[in-house]
Amino acid sequence: MPGLKLPSSKLPSVDDLSVAGQRVLLRSDLNVPLDLTGTGEITDDGRIRASLPVIRTLSDRGARVVIVAHLGRPAGGSFAERAAGGPSLRVVASRLSSLLGKPVEFATDVAGPSAASVVAGLGDGDVAMLENVRFEPAETAKDDAVRADFVARLASLGDLYVGDGFGAVHRKHASVYDLPLLLPHAAGGLVSAEVAVLERLVSDPDRPFVVVLGGKKPSDKLGVIGSLLGLADRIVICGGMAYTFFAARGYPVGNSVLEADRIPDVQAVMADAEKRGVELVLPVDVVVADRFAPDASHQVVPASGIPDGWEGVDAGPRTRELFAAKLADAKTVFWNGPAGVFEFPAFAAGTRALAEAVAAVPGLTVVGGGDSAAAVRALGIPESSFSHISTGGGASLEYLEGKMLPGLVALA
Ligand code: 3PG
Ligand code: MG
Repeated sequence: MPGLKLPSSKLPSVDDLSVAGQRVLLRSDLNVPLDLTGTGEITDDGRIRASLPVIRTLSDRGARVVIVAHLGRPAGGSFAERAAGGPSLRVVASRLSSLLGKPVEFATDVAGPSAASVVAGLGDGDVAMLENVRFEPAETAKDDAVRADFVARLASLGDLYVGDGFGAVHRKHASVYDLPLLLPHAAGGLVSAEVAVLERLVSDPDRPFVVVLGGKKPSDKLGVIGSLLGLADRIVICGGMAYTFFAARGYPVGNSVLEADRIPDVQAVMADAEKRGVELVLPVDVVVADRFAPDASHQVVPASGIPDGWEGVDAGPRTRELFAAKLADAKTVFWNGPAGVFEFPAFAAGTRALAEAVAAVPGLTVVGGGDSAAAVRALGIPESSFSHISTGGGASLEYLEGKMLPGLVALA
């Protein structure tokens, strides 16, 4: 069974750690979407909110909390280049401070003089945040020795480690994997809760178990589809990923996003699904636009008839009904990835219909991933309509795929 290698019960809990007066390096996932069109404003602070409970608990228990987190994927060969290009976590520290209702000291480096002096100045219960850990090129280095060097500097800033950045546990990065191996450690409540929900999905879920996969690229999700064929009863494919499935069926896709090199893999998955009797549900009609813009001209066409020069941007009305019908009898649902370009109101109807159909399911409903979670909130659908909204897309998919997740391995 996928994922069962690491039951949540094997993760040591932060509740059992004596944190009073200790410097706790807390790895959180505060990788929030930013408005890159100009303002750099945080467009969805869900991950910051989800990280608040462990920060509050640690602070209330008298820990000196030092938050380690990443933002985006900074480019550049050196700390200086990356820091100059951004994005800086400062905007996140200030949002955290308002949500917490207390100051959050900010270090302008990760494991340098600023970090050392900020940490040295902390009193019991105080909270600090280090600058974007990915400004340190070693954070994401493939070479174990390169990460080890950096992690020794980072470890000197703390006495204990708490891993609560669920969205990043699938990354074998210095602050996720190597750091907990050096310090006494435990999992935060968010990581424990996320793993407990995923366990329910992979261990004898109530059936029918329907999985809905959207988002742009099949390449990100083909592995998980392969594993899910042994777990789910029905898999609904939507969003940008669907066009590669259309192409695999021989349909023209116009200017829609297409991963042409993955067509053979998609065909193999479709054949495998048929052999195993797992229903793969694809859109039957599509909203197409003449360009990628909020005010583009658009029309509804059958899935097999996307005209030249047009691109798919949302599920069509018959597809919305089909998806709702395919979810109506579900007892368990996992949904990852939007059904269309929900960021543009004209193309949000498919994602909205999907979210509403998932929300209407009375059983266990799990929304996985930053984009789907942000979509739910952006569309104003109450979060309480779902059993669980995961903060990790890639992480939850890799868990369902049965992969060993480095950040959990290190904590266990
Ligand atoms: C995410 O946003 O999926 C996590 O924060 C991990 O970020 P990454 O995909 O850039 O490693
Ligand atoms: Mg991601």
